[in-house]
Amino acid sequence: MRAMDLTGTSALITGGASGLGAGTVRKLTSIGVRCTIFDRNEDGAKALAAELGASANYAAGDVTDPDDCQRAVDQAAEGGNLRVVVNCAGTGWVGRVINKDNSPHDLGAFKFIQDLNVIGTFNVMTRAASAMAQQAALEHNERGVIVNTASVAAFDGQIGQLAYSASKGAVVGMTLPAARDLSIVGIRVNTIAPGLFDTPLLAMLPQAQRDALAQSVLFPKELGSPAAFGELVAHLAQNSYINAEVIRLDGGIRMPPK
Ligand SMILES: NC(=O)c1ccc[n+]([C@@H]2O[C@H](COP(=O)([O-])OP(=O)(O)OC[C@H]3O[C@@H](n4cnc5c(N)ncnc54)[C@H](O)[C@@H]3O)[C@@H](O)[C@H]2O)c1
Repeated sequence: MRAMDLTGTSALITGGASGLGAGTVRKLTSIGVRCTIFDRNEDGAKALAAELGASANYAAGDVTDPDDCQRAVDQAAEGGNLRVVVNCAGTGWVGRVINKDNSPHDLGAFKFIQDLNVIGTFNVMTRAASAMAQQAALEHNERGVIVNTASVAAFDGQIGQLAYSASKGAVVGMTLPAARDLSIVGIRVNTIAPGLFDTPLLAMLPQAQRDALAQSVLFPKELGSPAAFGELVAHLAQNSYINAEVIRLDGGIRMPPK
């Protein structure tokens, strides 16, 4: 099998202090990848890096700020072996096209979500690709892999997910052209579309609501774990034949209107 050997390589993980990003950091460090955790939650990033010791470091910053992104990429690329970039920083928003009083969806909220989920992914992807393209190629002219995070909301947008679904649809839409653009320098681009995952995002809900959400999964009837997300990232990174792909990781769930 054509595989990218990750031993001794470096990775950059945005949103790496929490949830799916932290699951990715834990998995990648466990297989010998040195991880740079890029997160605006400095305390969280610092704590995880300290727990993982020499295999992790952190860069505090905001993915919507191009300078912060460049700094994080430079830090991760130090040593010239940045091979894996994972975009997990992002968040959701609830708001309908029109509010209950028939007033229009707030434009500022819509822009905020596009800025974080789309522009943040763009900022890191473009800067990281530029750094990776300048590194020496590995076997078979491969230089690295980028994994972006969408959501099943890109396909099954629920009531109130106008802004969120638009942003995740954009992440899905960037996958193929980015993979095509970067094929010339041997960088693959894939996207994971998670279903319902047990992260701090959902931990805020009451247990009864979490149980109901778990029951709505086709099989297995449970929330996804950040470890399962990290496993898929590691596989996407290592399996050189997966490219330009969007993979639902969702236990078969199809989200209803609400
Ligand atoms: N948890 C789920 O069920 C689920 C489902 C589908 C998609 N997703 C997507 O997965 C991604 C990660 O979600 P999660 O559940 O792990 O969330 P999370 O809140 O646990 O983690 C997100 C991390 O991103 C960081 N972050 C937020 N804004 C940032 C910014 N501007 N700059 C830098 N860092 C920033 C936060 O500090 C946090 O550490 C998001 O894009 C989310 O939309 C999550």
